[in-house]
Amino acid sequence: MNELDQLVLQARAEFLQAPTPADLENAKARYLGKAGRVTELLKGLAALAPEEKKARGGAINEAKQQVEAALNERRHALAEAELEAQLRAEALDVTLPGRSGGVGALHPVIRTMERIEAIFGSMGFDVADGPEIEADWFNFTALNTPADHPARSMHDTFYVEGGHLLRTHTSPMQIRYAVQHVKRHRVQLDAGQPMPDIRVIAPGRTYRVDSDATHSPMFHQVEGLWVGEHVSFKDLKSVYVNFLREFFETDDMQIRFRPSYFPFTEPSAEIDMMFNSGPLKGRWLEVSGSGQVHPQVIRNMGLDPERYIGFAFGSGIDRLAMLRYGVNDLRLFFDGDLRFLSQFK
Ligand code: DAH
Repeated sequence: MNELDQLVLQARAEFLQAPTPADLENAKARYLGKAGRVTELLKGLAALAPEEKKARGGAINEAKQQVEAALNERRHALAEAELEAQLRAEALDVTLPGRSGGVGALHPVIRTMERIEAIFGSMGFDVADGPEIEADWFNFTALNTPADHPARSMHDTFYVEGGHLLRTHTSPMQIRYAVQHVKRHRVQLDAGQPMPDIRVIAPGRTYRVDSDATHSPMFHQVEGLWVGEHVSFKDLKSVYVNFLREFFETDDMQIRFRPSYFPFTEPSAEIDMMFNSGPLKGRWLEVSGSGQVHPQVIRNMGLDPERYIGFAFGSGIDRLAMLRYGVNDLRLFFDGDLRFLSQFK
């Protein structure tokens, strides 16, 4: 074997042993670099006679081509190995179970609202909603609440620019809904014909300047209204008792109507309930205001109080949710803490 063949063999062996592209480039420099062995051989040609130069030069060049071929072969092999390693590292195990984004759930207050809507819906009540920024007329005046009523003070009510306010209760919906209802049945009314009863609940957000464990500046109420020619307090009792039994899924409770005062009802009653068993057993709990709709309110609805009569109630939804779920601090509902909220999934 001549020295050129040996050189080619050596180069090939070194290239094959280079574990990385960087090592391979170093090995290449040893043969083909400025001071590489092949380069040196070519430089040596200068000292030879022309005849010799030709033969020798041809042989060196051939050896150089073989070295270059060996280099390229190794380059390819290394690149391929690298690609393969990368693919292996990024390989997906398609048999692994997927990672889901997690499933959300309704807020306990919204769930309670939907439950209330379903129960009253089954008793023939329509569901309505209305504005949270309300006019004085609907929130107070139309509800027979005089200008000097304490509920109108700045301590209790959030006033907004332009003389409007954040509704302090859902009761303005009594007027809004009834006026629309009357409008829809104007022709019948003018002809002295009977109008279908007004029967609606209106759940929604309400606002008051108030904040402690059982009061939040934003809270939820549901208003109920049933007005017709023959609606009595007896109907209020049966509707509300039925509602509470359905809502708490038990008959094992006592319910009482305690005389009270509201400007928009006469007579008025606070509705209290007491569980006969369970953790809240034996304690009277106030769940709603109620009463027979005041004649002036009936008039403000556009109806004749000599002919139309009815009842209304306004209940705290958050309160009902607290009782149903056994939550003792109202603020938990509104802090947005997922540790609390995810328990209601
Ligand atoms: N709006 C009253 C409040 O927020 C609750 C209420 C009492 C509503 C009696 C009614 C009612 O409809 O008849 O305190």
